[in-house]
Amino acid sequence: MLTIHTLNFSYGDLKVLWDVDLQVNQGEIVTVVGSNGAGKSTTLKNISRLVKPTSGSLTFNGTDLTKLEPHQVVEQGIVQVPEGRKIFPEMTVLENLRMGSYIKSSRGDREANIDRAFTLFPRLKERARQLGGTMSGGEQQMLAIARGLMANPKLLLLDEPSLGLAPLFVKFIFDIITEINRQGVTILLVEQNVFQSLRISHRAYVLETGRVVLSGTGEALLNDEHVKKAFLGM
Ligand SMILES: Nc1ncnc2c1ncn2[C@@H]1O[C@H](COP(=O)(O)OP(=O)(O)OP(=O)(O)O)[C@@H](O)[C@H]1O
Ligand SMILES: [Mg+2]
Repeated sequence: MLTIHTLNFSYGDLKVLWDVDLQVNQGEIVTVVGSNGAGKSTTLKNISRLVKPTSGSLTFNGTDLTKLEPHQVVEQGIVQVPEGRKIFPEMTVLENLRMGSYIKSSRGDREANIDRAFTLFPRLKERARQLGGTMSGGEQQMLAIARGLMANPKLLLLDEPSLGLAPLFVKFIFDIITEINRQGVTILLVEQNVFQSLRISHRAYVLETGRVVLSGTGEALLNDEHVKKAFLGM
């Protein structure tokens, strides 16, 4: 579905990604794990065209992403839920959700998608009229994911959805990601919560200072000695 081949990227003189190869097949949950500054968010930004690669190829269902503008990437079915949630604080929960279906192809499904969001996240339904900015951190994360789903993604890019959440909320978010995937949405997840994310992943990549150093099934990486030592404190 998504194929990234020898992706290189620099912010000015600072080279951040080195020959990154990454593939996501339809129906998978694929996770990129790595420490702070490894280049995880930058990889997602290259996919959603918020930044432009120095070299390398990115294709989605055969379409060359490097030829597209960010809004055209969304129209292809790739939706990014950014790091730090970035909901609209002055809008209500419901207004935030409506904003998620701004692309033409998803407008007709707006009401059905709001129902789906409220089924996945009953708390958002209870808080439909509350201003986004007054929601708790965990609730804002739910809202950010729900808003992403409003655009009918084929591939959902999630940037550290568990960041800063209490353990119970973390478990809920990973359960929800699994459920969204079960409903047919392919997922590319970026996480520092290595244990939880590998447990729900079909496959995963380990990114270290901008290079893919390991890849395999979630289970294989959970049992990998390097992963255990570097990320799991074992
Ligand atoms: N806009 C920018 N301009 C210059 N350097 C940047 C910019 N954004 C990120 N960087 C640098 O690129 C490197 C990779 O950043 P990136 O945000 O991709 O890391 P990350 O793996 O997502 O880290 P984190 O887990 O902390 O979010 C870091 O060294 C960072 O300082
Ligand atoms: Mg990041």
